[in-house]
Amino acid sequence: MNDTLSLLNRHRSIRHYTDDPLLEGDVRAAVAAGQRASTSSAIEAYCCIRIRSAETRQRLVTLTGGQTKVADAAGFFVICGDTRRHRLAAERAGRPYDSRLEAFLLAVIDATLFAQNMALAFESLGYGFCYVGGLRNRLPEASEALDLPRGVYPLFGICVGRPAETPIERPRFALDDVLHEERYPDDAQVLRTLDAHDEAAAIYYDKRGNEMPRWTERMIEKFETPIRTHLSSYYRGQGADLT
Ligand SMILES: Cc1cc2nc3c(=O)[nH]c(=O)nc-3n(C[C@H](O)[C@H](O)[C@H](O)COP(=O)(O)O)c2cc1C
Repeated sequence: MNDTLSLLNRHRSIRHYTDDPLLEGDVRAAVAAGQRASTSSAIEAYCCIRIRSAETRQRLVTLTGGQTKVADAAGFFVICGDTRRHRLAAERAGRPYDSRLEAFLLAVIDATLFAQNMALAFESLGYGFCYVGGLRNRLPEASEALDLPRGVYPLFGICVGRPAETPIERPRFALDDVLHEERYPDDAQVLRTLDAHDEAAAIYYDKRGNEMPRWTERMIEKFETPIRTHLSSYYRGQGADLT
């Protein structure tokens, strides 16, 4: 296994951090590595906003459902799809900007690729990170706290800091359950996959000492109840047409 594979395979989300600061050179190196990610047609439709203000961080703890790591981590970054540059270029040229779903998706995909490259770069420098999708819990308020202009779509946060914990590896599906040859498997095969994953997840929770419902049960629960139902109206308000 080479160093890159070994880094990728060592990943665990880190939610507790030491008090060590983020070195400025490391932040710039990680963001630069993020920027080297592939970008659809070179549109670079993303940005990240580093939040240093303790007051804003505290506000975001509340808005993310009490995730104290947002305040505790040495660094907190908000990852955004960013269509503002394209909009301003079009506006300055007196030309239309088409804000339908494809433009939104391009920004989400670009921003996510950027973020994962950046996060892995931080890991390679000895930091740990945790994404914070909870940023979307109360997005209009988070967006107001960040004073985001039209065309900028906050997607998730990332906490970064030196690890103060060593969590055990969280299981994934078996490789052959995600790597399909030529065609998607039939439903019976997929259902067998779920049973195997339930078992792997049960072993994981057992090791962690957590009583948890089966993985499939958790997924059923997660997707049977609508959550964050404000998202389409929020993103439309930010200038995404989404049709
Ligand atoms: C987009 C995204 C959003 C996430 N949001 C949160 C979050 O709000 N809070 C949290 O503690 N973990 C969050 N996570 C971390 C996941 O729970 C974690 O990656 C997953 O359980 C797998 O664990 P691992 O990263 O340790 O392998 C998020 C992960 C992703 C990719």
